[in-house]
Amino acid sequence: MGIQFGGDYNPEQWPEEVWAEDLKLMKAAHVTMVTAGIFSWARVEPRSGQWDFGWFDRVMDNLAGAGIAVCLATMTASPPPWLSHAHPEILPEGPDGQRRWPGGRQHYCPSSPVYRAHAVRLVEQLATRYAGHPALAMWHIGNEYGCHTRQCYCAVSAEDFRRWLRERYESVTALNAAWSTAFWSQGYGDFDEVLPPRTAPTFPNPAQQLDYLRFGDEALRACYLAEKEVLNRLTPEVPVTTNLMPQHKPVDAFAWSAHMDAMALDFYQDPYAGDDHIRAGYVFDLMRSARSGQPWMLLEQAPSAVNWRPRNGPKPPGAMRLWSWQAVAQGADAVLFFQWRQSLGGAEKFHSAMLPHGGTDTRIFREVSELGRELASLAGIEGTRSRAEVALLADWHSWWALELDSKPSTALEHSRIALEHYRPLFEAGVACDVVPPQRELNDYRLVVVPNLYLLTARDAERLTAYVRDGGRLVVSFFSGIVDEYDRVHPGGAPAPLRELLGLRVEEFWPLDAGRTVAVEGAYAGRADLWSEAVDLEGAEALARFADGDLAGRPALTRHTYGRGTVWYLGTRPEPVLMRALLDDVRRAAGVAPVVPGLPAGVQATVREGAGGRYLFLLNHGTDTVEVGLPEPMREALAADGARGGTVDRVTLAARGVAVLTDD
Ligand code: GAL
Repeated sequence: MGIQFGGDYNPEQWPEEVWAEDLKLMKAAHVTMVTAGIFSWARVEPRSGQWDFGWFDRVMDNLAGAGIAVCLATMTASPPPWLSHAHPEILPEGPDGQRRWPGGRQHYCPSSPVYRAHAVRLVEQLATRYAGHPALAMWHIGNEYGCHTRQCYCAVSAEDFRRWLRERYESVTALNAAWSTAFWSQGYGDFDEVLPPRTAPTFPNPAQQLDYLRFGDEALRACYLAEKEVLNRLTPEVPVTTNLMPQHKPVDAFAWSAHMDAMALDFYQDPYAGDDHIRAGYVFDLMRSARSGQPWMLLEQAPSAVNWRPRNGPKPPGAMRLWSWQAVAQGADAVLFFQWRQSLGGAEKFHSAMLPHGGTDTRIFREVSELGRELASLAGIEGTRSRAEVALLADWHSWWALELDSKPSTALEHSRIALEHYRPLFEAGVACDVVPPQRELNDYRLVVVPNLYLLTARDAERLTAYVRDGGRLVVSFFSGIVDEYDRVHPGGAPAPLRELLGLRVEEFWPLDAGRTVAVEGAYAGRADLWSEAVDLEGAEALARFADGDLAGRPALTRHTYGRGTVWYLGTRPEPVLMRALLDDVRRAAGVAPVVPGLPAGVQATVREGAGGRYLFLLNHGTDTVEVGLPEPMREALAADGARGGTVDRVTLAARGVAVLTDD
């Protein structure tokens, strides 16, 4: 089968005469898969219960005839006007009680039984009609859950939240204890008194906010699962997925992964960001790790510019190719785009497409077709996997809790902190998994905990056991502070990690905006964002604060515990220091880069399996570089796109890609 290649196909935007040309040009561009029907609800059900599938039958038949597989959308992401007209109660409300009106998309309350019933009815029609259709390869449920409507606060959601709370806590006494309602006279006498955390005069109860984030994620997932139930019943052999978004707070990718037959991601690298490939690297690794290394799908990316940033830079020549190969290098078995043919009207007419307004005689179409050809030429990559010796922990519950209001500092952002810990590993060319704290850790030589503010006693014990048994662990500040209800662990911070880390934090000392402090010792330089008053209880100080309020107190520590070692960061070291520290730590853990001595800016990954062993080299830098290989390999895809012979060095131009194999 090979790596799937294609994009969103929205034929309803075009007269049927155009469809034949679509198929011809898709073949020319080496398209193997499209995701179709994502926003077709109003066309297939123009009035409630009146179905018009004839045109879509022709789309499906045409694609089958052309040998193009369809990842068929369930069409439920944008309810048609008749539905919200007849049932305005499906419209979502913000925390301020303001209704979100139709006119865009995703204007539904996830808890709405009316929305769900209509969605399920549509999915039953679709699954019944297209079961066994030769084009049907996969189901694509909804679209980017929680992208626009992250949470709803309406009366229907409030009722659903109370149901959720009753199931979770069983008694209002348990709810009161979990939410610390003795504070500010918030004790509830009955579940009926509970509301969503709507806009209040001051900070709403943090545990209530945290549970509302959990509930919101589950409400979205309930929509997905309601559709999935129909699909699994009517087309049990067809795999099911949905397109997740990168570092998307409302949707816990780890929790969703159990219900997806393949992880699927939309990722729009920002050409103007300069280093967005590092964010991509983190999210791609998370996608691969979520289902324990199973290949995932890049379900959407832009061929060039998007239309939704303030300034939308096109991808310069070679960037789309490089970033597509990056996804494959990090475990993707599908590279798809939004969208096939560029729209003439509507909100996305300035968003690039595989087939631009300018037609086939365009840079974009040429680059897209060339990428399709390259991917088709390396079908053996499909199904191969990577192995990592380093795990970075990520946890949505901790993220949700960390970014609630009323904290020592509101400047701690989960996504940024995660990337600050990921970057040194990425830049060193070290393979890394991104996993939840509950994952088995013993197979990893090194585990990095960027910032786990919320850590259950059980997960803290798992980290402790990991080190006791010989593991190497890095833990950053403000970890292990609260339990699952955002209640501080008693016993002095970070209570459940105190023995493991060999220290206590007497006081948090977040640094003011723009303020830096000096650290000195084995690591010397500057740090910012955070500091804390650490007392050693068995750990040694590797570096101490050299100025500021905490001068002389430990800033970076190391503790031998059982058969393992744990490092602790009581501040945010500047990037060069962070790199130096993590380089030392991974050497101590015996973790080697995929290719030793990689030039700066070059990414190296390995995938192997039945289809062979592949080394991917990707030059994200702006200079031409030479990469020496650990052993001679054959160029499966040479830097110029051709195939070459066996080499022990590769020259990579800026944005160059080489794929090598040893078969
Ligand atoms: C995604 C969405 C697509 C399209 C795309 C544009 O968020 O799933 O339908 O809107 O963005 O970048």
